[in-house]
Amino acid sequence: MQDLWIFNVAFRWIHLTAAVVLVGGVLYARYIQWPAADSTLTPPQQQDQQIQINNRWRVAVAVASAFLVASGFYQVMAIALPKAGGLPAYQFLLGGKIVIALVLFFLVGVTAGRSSALAAMRQRVHLWLSLAGGLGLLILLISAVLRYLPITVP
Ligand code: HEM
Repeated sequence: MQDLWIFNVAFRWIHLTAAVVLVGGVLYARYIQWPAADSTLTPPQQQDQQIQINNRWRVAVAVASAFLVASGFYQVMAIALPKAGGLPAYQFLLGGKIVIALVLFFLVGVTAGRSSALAAMRQRVHLWLSLAGGLGLLILLISAVLRYLPITVP
């Protein structure tokens, strides 16, 4: 994979940047933006502000999620399979990470979305953002383990 190094750098940069935007945005919303809005705005004001925020945040969520999936699959093909394709512990952690990432995409999509079918879920935005933030941190931990998991080729 030596000759792919420019692609490896580019996709790794995309992957990390998208991860920073998504997980950082969720933690910012949950622990900075919502508490500040809760303590200063009336419910109707909060609702107006949230519409404006979500109109912008939704685009960032869609772009970051799409880039994470695309660059993630590149990393699976270019890095994970050659490095540890046959290692059960690596496969288990990578599979778990992908499933947790899908749950995270769903939760962030719910909190930033407009779907009337999910309006009831949006009533508990603090809960879903807390859960999404926790899952984001867990994914970052799993990613670090994947990178440094001791690989012993039999
Ligand atoms: C919220 C979603 C995601 C986040 C926050 C995230 C985060 C990260 C981070 C920070 C790394 C770099 C770890 C390091 O070098 O220390 C990484 C690596 C990686 N990610 Fe993701 N990722 C996400 C989604 C995905 C998805 C959907 C896939 C697969 C389809 C994927 C596959 C990979 C692979 C294969 C690596 C390389 C692991 C290794 O070095 O052995 N990621 N991810």
